[in-house]
Amino acid sequence: MTKMVYDLIVLGGGPGGYHGALQAASHNLKTLLIEKEKLGGVCLNEGCIPTKTLLQSAKVYHHALHSEDLGVTASNVEYHHEKVLKRKNEVSAQLRSGIRGQLKVSGVEVIEGYGQILRRQADGFLVSIGEEVVKGKRLLLATGASPVIPPIPGLKEAIGQGIALTSREILDIPHIPESLTIIGGGVIGLEMAEYFAKTGSRVTVIEMQNQIGGPIDSEISTTFLKILKQMGILFELNAKVQSIDHHQVTYEKQGKTFRVDSEYILVCTGRKPNIENLGIEAIGVETIKGCVSTDETGQTNIPNVYAVGDLNGKSMLAHTAYREAEVCIQTIIGKKEQMRYHTIPAVIYTTPEVAFVGETEESALAKGIDYAKVNLPLNYSGRYVVEQGDRNGFIKIVIDKKYNQIIGVHILGNYASEIIYGASMMLETEMRTSDIEQLVFPHPSVSEVIKDAIHQYIKIGG
Ligand code: NAI
Repeated sequence: MTKMVYDLIVLGGGPGGYHGALQAASHNLKTLLIEKEKLGGVCLNEGCIPTKTLLQSAKVYHHALHSEDLGVTASNVEYHHEKVLKRKNEVSAQLRSGIRGQLKVSGVEVIEGYGQILRRQADGFLVSIGEEVVKGKRLLLATGASPVIPPIPGLKEAIGQGIALTSREILDIPHIPESLTIIGGGVIGLEMAEYFAKTGSRVTVIEMQNQIGGPIDSEISTTFLKILKQMGILFELNAKVQSIDHHQVTYEKQGKTFRVDSEYILVCTGRKPNIENLGIEAIGVETIKGCVSTDETGQTNIPNVYAVGDLNGKSMLAHTAYREAEVCIQTIIGKKEQMRYHTIPAVIYTTPEVAFVGETEESALAKGIDYAKVNLPLNYSGRYVVEQGDRNGFIKIVIDKKYNQIIGVHILGNYASEIIYGASMMLETEMRTSDIEQLVFPHPSVSEVIKDAIHQYIKIGG
């Protein structure tokens, strides 16, 4: 039987995969997308979108309960977790059908099934989907990542008992637990900690590093920790989990052993690329530390084989995957583009939000950059005072002193997620402080603090 031959076969229908497929089709490449579960991948079905849906409900609930200062009180406020879950699923379904529609209109063929690379031929790569075998002149690998299950004694058993959950199962937890222990104070751990704390759980976060949020700026991390503690979340930093026995987590801190009991345990200690059973070894694709190695165009060591998104482990963010997919397709059609990872923003969608791009003080120091920093409370913004009113929010800008160029922006406070793209553009276009001075920001807006901070910097002689 003649095999179907495609210009491009995409393995995985998450942000990297579906966006890559759409881009390819827009350049008239005959494209096949293979997805084993649901279109939209982790982002749409068990990551970015569902968690933001939950957080939005928790935010509204919190506002309903705590808006006396604004002259608003409400009685009989109730949280209906089952309705929130229903809406979460509806939102994902709506967005999934949007993606399916876009793929259809664009002429991308979609096959539901498990795609596995079989072998390389002179004119392409054979891929199986069950019994069916197809050929692609090029491959775009976008199979994503899965939660890491650390080798903690008793953890596998607790997962089997349904007591310990990963970021996947927690999204369908049938009720708000009375108590929750979270192992890992990274992005997922913090977003989930806030959600469950705001909806009534007693939450304990156990983190083995000395700060939360991973490699975020340490001043932001310290203030953020203070705010989360004020919310009632308990934190154990520098703490190493030793074992789990049913509902009990045993951990070690400063040489002492502690125990915490909770109804559920959430494990969010990072994610690992999905390289198993993908068939990459059949064609000799190289990996480093479990991630598919790629160059700055997304190409692997095998010509015409590209890998994007969590699979290459460079920056496990949906928006990175989108851009990587664009760069791959541009490369395929002969344009010269490449990734610029240092200008990719990142956000933690808690309230308050945390958003950042570029160098932290710590990373600037490590690179030997002669830098200056300027910190400014977000209360400099009238809109922030009106709408948020807390004293903790601040912006921090890191400046390369040699060129007076903005190399890092870090914001703790709401709207940070929507402001940060502007900061990314400042980094992308290598803006100097004198350029920012000439920009006009809308007033009143929280974004104005960028200009205010730069004014402060220039005032003190920067
Ligand atoms: P992460 O890498 O952000 O954080 C994992 C944390 O667990 C680290 O702080 C680490 O020190 C800690 N840890 C590891 N092993 C531990 C142990 N045995 N005991 C205690 N602590 C331990 O990973 P996370 O939160 O699982 O997120 C996975 C990926 O998903 C990340 O790459 C993240 O960027 C992405 N993501 C992004 C979101 C966003 O952009 N808003 C939201 C959720 C996830």
